Amino acid sequence: WFYDLGADRASVPPDARLPGRPAHASRPHDSHKGSFGDVAVIGGAPGMTGAAWLAATAALHAGAGRVFVGLLDDEAPSPAADDALMRRNPRSLALDRMTVVCGCGGGTAVDALLPEVLSRAKSLVLDADGLNALGRHPGWRELLQKRAQAHRATVLTPHPLEAARLLETDTQAVQADRLAAASQLAHALGCTVVLKGSGSVIASPDDCPRINPTGNARLATGGTGDVLAGMVGAALASGLDPQSAATQAVWWHGAAADGWPADRPFSASQLARQAGLGLAPPA
Ligand code: APR
Ligand code: MG
Repeated sequence: WFYDLGADRASVPPDARLPGRPAHASRPHDSHKGSFGDVAVIGGAPGMTGAAWLAATAALHAGAGRVFVGLLDDEAPSPAADDALMRRNPRSLALDRMTVVCGCGGGTAVDALLPEVLSRAKSLVLDADGLNALGRHPGWRELLQKRAQAHRATVLTPHPLEAARLLETDTQAVQADRLAAASQLAHALGCTVVLKGSGSVIASPDDCPRINPTGNARLATGGTGDVLAGMVGAALASGLDPQSAATQAVWWHGAAADGWPADRPFSASQLARQAGLGLAPPA
């Protein structure tokens, strides 16, 4: 099932933006939804559909032109805003022209689609069970190398345990030298890697790694990783290169948490609705 979330944009309240930054500030006046790219979220196996919706909502609020959700649960009830959405057959979507965010709440069901996604996606964010699937099927790593050779952007967003599985080591070893772990993964797989956690590291094969300065422990709650995956997807869909897309999305994800009023509740779904990507953060 694919749901087109494009129409939902009209319902974004004016205050669902980062403070002091008009949402239209970085958009050319004559732009249209095609200017900001299509994102397809593939994930949400039975019992975990919320993860896919979080990523999709974040991509939408971060400025993607159109967002589709390919749920891996055929029986899932329609979302509340169903009248604003359009359903599509996942296989009919032109993944070759889309930014695919794959793995959020995907379970092992994501395995059936991942080789096709790795082969076809114009640009790709691989998160959570998409990364775990790569761990279980080492042969699929070759598809990542092929993407790199074809200059098709790929961003991996592991938390330390997911990174440890890919590096065939343990979490302590990853955390003992986070810069080295992220760089090693980026070089081994030919991708941009966001090693999440306090001080997220962004590493690419051809750039020096960066440590993100924003964010705080309020982000340590389930679902914020799905929100980040959607934000990176929106940044890639807007045409940014993978290192810039990852850097900007991680920066704004943290900034949204840092700027959150102390007296307001904080949850991943609320963060997703505040997932604006602003003007470029400091280089
Ligand atoms: N400081 C700054 N940022 C933090 C902190 C912290 N102390 N703690 C967490 N974060 C940020 C991370 O950098 C990342 O962006 O919050 C996000 C958490 O992402 P994940 O670890 O992927 O967590 P999430 O996916 O939201 O929830 C857990 O992941 O392991 C899977 O399936 C499992 O459902 C589970 C899910
Ligand atoms: Mg996660």
